Amino acid sequence: MTGKLSKQQVPAGRGDLPMVRAEGVHKSFGQVEVLKGIDLEVRAGEVFCLIGPSGSGKSTFLRCINHLEKINAGRLWVDGELVGYRQQGDKLYELRDREVAMKRRDIGMVFQRFNLFPHMTAVENVMEAPVQVKGVRKADAHERAMSLLARVGLADRAGHYPSQLSGGQQQRVAIARALAMDPKLMLFDEPTSALDPELVGDVLDVMRDLAESGMTMIVVTHEMGFAREVGDSLVFMDGGVVVESGRPRDVLTNPQHKRTQSFLSKVL
Ligand SMILES: Nc1ncnc2c1ncn2[C@@H]1O[C@H](COP(=O)(O)OP(=O)(O)OP(=O)(O)O)[C@@H](O)[C@H]1O
Ligand SMILES: [Mg+2]
Repeated sequence: MTGKLSKQQVPAGRGDLPMVRAEGVHKSFGQVEVLKGIDLEVRAGEVFCLIGPSGSGKSTFLRCINHLEKINAGRLWVDGELVGYRQQGDKLYELRDREVAMKRRDIGMVFQRFNLFPHMTAVENVMEAPVQVKGVRKADAHERAMSLLARVGLADRAGHYPSQLSGGQQQRVAIARALAMDPKLMLFDEPTSALDPELVGDVLDVMRDLAESGMTMIVVTHEMGFAREVGDSLVFMDGGVVVESGRPRDVLTNPQHKRTQSFLSKVL
């Protein structure tokens, strides 16, 4: 698609821009509309928590932000740039695959299943993208990877393979791996829900540190304690729409909508 943007649709000056802005985002798979007009804003430095029942579209929305899915209608900006398009003058050009890959580098994603490379050690997993994608020198990438592993509390596990690490340790390696690309935005899709309960805390601690460092984070989670303590905003999604949003404390303790109340009564 090549289209024209009117002046008021083009966000002005990056400084005061939200990191993510969604306006009427729609996404369908075949006949099934999964996102039915999502409007939201994530400020830079914010920890933005996303909750909602299974199938409500949370993962799909993260995948749209990360250029893994194309939206069917609406507009989606990341750091002031329209996702999937390049603007030249007042014209929009669809990005080519190579350009999409470039954009995706700036966004770190952490999944429920850690998706580490099984044949690589922890430190090799963390070094891989900087070396292969960015062409960073191996020695430099190694040094950085070691400091990132230290940051997630795994300096002494650098030489371990994923199969030799607990789920919580693998997830922390996955976070270090995402950080190795110096993302401006981190997306977390239920990062602790595949973990044994006693391993959840260490991963949440790493995420808390990351939040304190000023990273912009969108976190799909069932950890309401984390959302309440660390989150700046909380959105409840159901059926492909944002039902309710606000400060986590307000939404969790005083939900306004029946659907939010009913969801929270089941998970809290
Ligand atoms: N690639 C796809 N093709 C077809 N349908 C899909 C695809 N991806 C997701 N869906 C459908 O979209 C809907 C929303 O899925 P999504 O994974 O975004 O939900 P979710 O809120 O993340 O759920 P959960 O809490 O279970 O992870 C579901 O009905 C799902 O089956
Ligand atoms: Mg999901």
